[in-house]
Amino acid sequence: MRKLLVGVAVTLLCLCGMAQADMNPDPDALWERIVESEPYRQWAFFPDHQGMQEGSAPHGLYHIVYANDVAVKAGHPKGDGAVIVKENYNADKELAAITVMYKVEGYNPEAGDWFWAKYTPDGTTLMAGKPKGCIACHTAAQSTDFIMVSGH
Ligand code: HEC
Repeated sequence: MRKLLVGVAVTLLCLCGMAQADMNPDPDALWERIVESEPYRQWAFFPDHQGMQEGSAPHGLYHIVYANDVAVKAGHPKGDGAVIVKENYNADKELAAITVMYKVEGYNPEAGDWFWAKYTPDGTTLMAGKPKGCIACHTAAQSTDFIMVSGH
C-alpha cells in the first residue's frame, strides 16, 4: 500500500512538473499540440502582420504567421508558453514548410528561451531544438525577442 501511494505521488509530481516547464521539448509532441489539441489555424495574427504576406529568404516567397494567446499579447519578451507558427509557401502559393518558435522559460536563456522547429507540411520534423542557423539569423531581431515580424 505504501509503495502504491509513493508511486502515485511520484506520478503526480511528474505530471505537474510537465505541465509547468517543458524543459526538454519534443518536436512530435509540439506538432501534435499545434495541429490536434490547439489547432494553430484558429489562432490570431499579430495585429501588424495579418494573413498572407510576402516573405524573404530562406523561408519562402509567401508566409502566414499565427500566434497563440501568450504570443499575441503585445510587448517583448513574450511569456513562457508563447508559440508562433509560420506557414511557408512557394511561388505557387503551395504550403512548403512550417517553422515554429516555442518559448520555454529556462530552455535557452542565451537566445530568448525559444525552442525552434521546422516541419514538412505533413508533420515530419526537419530540424528541432536550438539550430544554429535559426538562431544566428533571428539574432538580428534580438531587441524584439528574436521575432522578425515585429510581433505586436
Ligand atoms: C537567414 C535568415 C533566417 C533563418 C536562417 C531563419 N529565419 Fe525564421 N525568419 C526570418 C525572417 C526574415 C522572418 C520574417 C518573415 C519572412 O520574411 O519570412 C522569419 C520569421 C520566422 C517566424 C515567424 C516569427 C518571426 O520571427 O517573425 C518563425 C516562427 C521562424 N522564422 C522560424 C524559424 C526557424 C524554426 C528557423 C530554423 C529552422 C528559421 N526561422 C531560420 C529569417 C530567418
